[in-house]
Amino acid sequence: MTSPLPTRTHNCRRAISPRPHLHHHTYSPQLAILSPVNEIGLRSPLGGEAGPSSCRSLRKDTPEVERLVTRVRAGLELGVAPKLIPEGEGGTYVLFDAAKRPVAIFKPSDEEPPSLNNPKKHAESPSRKGIIPGDGAIRETAAYLLDRGWAGVPPTTMLEIRHPVFGPGCKVGSVQEWIHDSEAAGSYGASLFSTADVHRIGILDVRTLNTDRHDGNMLVLRQSESSRLKLIPIDHGFVLPAEPGEAFFDWLNWPQTRLPFSPDELEYIARIDIDADIKMLRKLGLNSDSLAAYRMATVLLKIAAAAGLTLHDIGEMVCRSATYSDRPSALEDLAEDARGCEPFWDEFEALTVELVAARKAAASLPKPSPAASLRLSGGIGASVGVNASTAKSQLRSELHMASPSMHKSSSVETIFAAV
Ligand SMILES: Nc1ncnc2c1ncn2[C@@H]1O[C@H](COP(=O)(O)OP(=O)(O)OP(=O)(O)O)[C@@H](O)[C@H]1O
Ligand SMILES: [Mg+2]
Repeated sequence: MTSPLPTRTHNCRRAISPRPHLHHHTYSPQLAILSPVNEIGLRSPLGGEAGPSSCRSLRKDTPEVERLVTRVRAGLELGVAPKLIPEGEGGTYVLFDAAKRPVAIFKPSDEEPPSLNNPKKHAESPSRKGIIPGDGAIRETAAYLLDRGWAGVPPTTMLEIRHPVFGPGCKVGSVQEWIHDSEAAGSYGASLFSTADVHRIGILDVRTLNTDRHDGNMLVLRQSESSRLKLIPIDHGFVLPAEPGEAFFDWLNWPQTRLPFSPDELEYIARIDIDADIKMLRKLGLNSDSLAAYRMATVLLKIAAAAGLTLHDIGEMVCRSATYSDRPSALEDLAEDARGCEPFWDEFEALTVELVAARKAAASLPKPSPAASLRLSGGIGASVGVNASTAKSQLRSELHMASPSMHKSSSVETIFAAV
């Protein structure tokens, strides 16, 4: 007999209080930049004794970042001037070391578009929903700290810099290691990139709901010993939005995304420690809506990857359709369907398992009829029949093996008990 989809034991949509996440915040970007400074601890202040040009760290950093800052400071203290570069919409400067070689990119917070101080006069540039201009340095640093070398985000931190080119005061912003001899990914055919590079950047972008992954924000490095190309993700000022509706991935239709994740990629995803990440992101100064959106995207990534979905499948669930951009993404639907539930995260996780099982069943059908595709895209409660039901019980055991810690709550078991 065909099993119906599990019915929910309560109508969550109308239950209890509105969820205290994903609403608009108004707060000062300047405060957001400065608050972690005190929390994390300042080095010696950038006082008069430091001369007309110098810098100071705004946080305690990894050794590789410390080495970068030392080189940046040496160049500044010799008086080598930061140079504004024409690419990009923000005020982006190359910093040089003592030998006058490019060493880092500096993006002052008060020059992000649409700020009035933006030297490229992009004061009217539309900003992303759920991202407050001026917070870019926090987001750039967050991407580096979340990535920790996995996808290759170059060492990045927040610095306060003084130099006559910036006038009498100091500028606060992100500093990222300069990648020598690179070109934008858009200058190459996507098929030239390795599957591992594309998957790793994709995993980072899904977790962080990157709203700005266009092909100019991936650099290509020609590895000297071979003709192999290495992709390097840059420009993370628009990651971790407080609203999940504007994720944008240029890699979404690259062929590598349709290949399965490798065992080490699956292991990496299963090991992502969401609670530890959120603790770090909160300390950096990200607001609670961004943290909630991070958790949603990462829970979806974990469940979908463990179930055997591809990066392409997952990217499609996270992004809105290019054709119908006013329609919410599957991720947004999940959040909406779980809204008001107590506990929200149990419901969100259970609904995600359901949706992933339905997608998996659909993917394993020989050729879904247009009518079935329509039903599948009709929402989480759409009828998907016996295949989804079978897929769901397989998924339960696969998920348990792949990521037992995801299932410490009973919600997944409860929802399956009804099948
Ligand atoms: N770490 C880096 N190493 C080398 N070049 C870099 C690095 N970061 C940025 N660039 C160069 O500077 C340009 C502008 O930087 P970035 O993309 O970060 O700024 P942006 O103003 O935010 O751009 P966008 O218009 O994409 O929003 C890049 O397109 C790239 O050419
Ligand atoms: Mg850019």
